[in-house]
Amino acid sequence: MASGNFNKRIYNFSSGPSTLPLSALETAAAEMTNYRGSGMSVMEMSHRSRMYLEIFEEVKASLRAALSVPDTHEILFMQGGATFQFSAVPLNLIGDNGEADYAVTGSFASGAMKEARKYGRINVAASSEDRDFSYIPPQGALKLSPGAKYFYYCANNTIYGTEWQYIPETSGVPIVCDMSSNILSKPVDVSKYGLIFAGVQKNMAPAGMAVVIISKSLAGLELPYTPRIMSYRTAIEKDSMDNTPPCYAIYMLGLTLKWLETQGGVAGMERRKAAKAKILYDVIDASHMFIGTAEKSSRSDMNITFRTTDSELDSRFIKEASELGFANLAGHRSVGGMRASVYNAMPEDGVLALADFMRDFEKKR
Ligand SMILES: Cc1ncc(COP(=O)(O)O)c(C=O)c1O
Repeated sequence: MASGNFNKRIYNFSSGPSTLPLSALETAAAEMTNYRGSGMSVMEMSHRSRMYLEIFEEVKASLRAALSVPDTHEILFMQGGATFQFSAVPLNLIGDNGEADYAVTGSFASGAMKEARKYGRINVAASSEDRDFSYIPPQGALKLSPGAKYFYYCANNTIYGTEWQYIPETSGVPIVCDMSSNILSKPVDVSKYGLIFAGVQKNMAPAGMAVVIISKSLAGLELPYTPRIMSYRTAIEKDSMDNTPPCYAIYMLGLTLKWLETQGGVAGMERRKAAKAKILYDVIDASHMFIGTAEKSSRSDMNITFRTTDSELDSRFIKEASELGFANLAGHRSVGGMRASVYNAMPEDGVLALADFMRDFEKKR
């Protein structure tokens, strides 16, 4: 990035918090000190005020429309990010002496499983650890337990760059899914899920909140010692306002959803993300220097992971890219290499420019 140019926006490939739609940021900036003549910022408003409740209801309705959430499911806004849900899910759903199935396809699924083990018997329904989490197990490899209260998986593995290309068939066992890093990137049949959750800091809003979409049939099953703040029953009864909700993050989510509508909704996002990911995977597949780290059939359209055979060359790539305004291309600290996170708000121009840079970098060597 040209030093001293503080007004220039760069291409930010961060895995989260990550780039948000420019129009959403600009609207937030324009409304920052005086929201629509109210004389105050949204972050200064009482969450019980009529003006804020209008924002809140509109955001919920827009999200319901964007993901075609059926009436059988409630939408909740909960604090604590996605990790909070690692505990909330078993506390609410596993029951006394209960068991659940977890598919372990990366660090976040593994973290969720470890947390769930505090509350019940957890079966590893499948794992891709044998090949460094580079693939998604096929349906035939899933070992489902008849007594499981739910089946848990992480739809997109942000660190390893793999994404489930199918919805698991579980013979009626409710499916719980962490969609933190691919929610709103494509249409989803919500009716197939008992519970979907997503930390908002990738495709939706600033960090600190999770969106939870829960089948009403799963509310009210919490263990007696479930903290009130983690109870889905309470969150539903109080419409996510048992305590002060993350008001500003909810407002920002609304601005992102307005932008999403102008881009053709989730169907538009699906077309765009597939095209963007293909641009980078094509460079990787044609390259003699870059190696994709995920198996082709399991590749994520959101987090493109790659490396060279030389960690010093990786560091040089990341440094040179950063100097040119391609920020945050280092892979997760646990795996190294490179990762380009190309969430909804990353413009195709940014991806094309990165592809050019990758080709140039290779040609120069
Ligand atoms: C798939 C997935 N799940 C969970 C998390 C944890 O989210 P949070 O930091 O909001 O707790 C992340 C964070 O990057 C993630 O990518």
